[in-house]
Amino acid sequence: MARKKIIAGNWKMNMTPTEAKALCETLKPLVDNPDVDVVYCVPAIDLVPVSEAIQGTNVNLGAENMYFEEKGAFTGEISPAMLADVGVKYVVLGHSERRGYFGETSEDVNKKILKALEYGIVPIMCCGESLEQREQGVTMDFIRQQVKVGYMGVTADQAKGTVIAYEPIWAIGTGRTASNEQAEEVCKAIRETIAEIYDSDTAEAIRIQYGGSMNAKNCKELLAMPDIDGGLIGGASLKPDFGVIVNYNK
Ligand code: 13P
Repeated sequence: MARKKIIAGNWKMNMTPTEAKALCETLKPLVDNPDVDVVYCVPAIDLVPVSEAIQGTNVNLGAENMYFEEKGAFTGEISPAMLADVGVKYVVLGHSERRGYFGETSEDVNKKILKALEYGIVPIMCCGESLEQREQGVTMDFIRQQVKVGYMGVTADQAKGTVIAYEPIWAIGTGRTASNEQAEEVCKAIRETIAEIYDSDTAEAIRIQYGGSMNAKNCKELLAMPDIDGGLIGGASLKPDFGVIVNYNK
């Protein structure tokens, strides 16, 4: 069965609640495509206003992070129950900005994935190499490790419903997109890693996104690659361009 494409915006640390509501209104007529799962992953403070603003549309609510504990003395953190309660369906976990600026490890990401699954929230696990790693020729080893550790203890049935985003760090926010071939090569290797951990059914079911300067111009070609099942979009998700990406097949 063909995998349904999933196009998710990662708003990062952008959009006040007032701006968020306005952006939802702007995008509303532009993001209607029944062939695609559409997700807005938004800052925690925007979750409630965005959940209201997307009522009655095809857009799903997503968060950008989550803590792996249920509740308690973890000042500043957000629990999976809190996300589930406001209607969050997806959560970005292990984004390279979280790993790089906030010291998140693959072990942390693994705990978060397990917890999100417990609460019925679909994890979008990010992985990706730095420019230095690419130049050293260790991209595949590094990403396989991120995937294997991230998915420790996740069952095959659970893994089937999850999403992995391949985001080469050197392509994020730089305007320097991976070539279609580079993106496909790594997304294919991720699928092979999933087949190795589980089986070919699981590898065929899991959805793998590409992220890193995906935009209205380059999305069509990237999304035509056999192992690229969607996009995780940063900068272009804050503009009407996002609608062009969602409608890449029109
Ligand atoms: P850009 O689309 O701005 O390069 O960001 C990609 C990204 O990090 C999405 O998570």
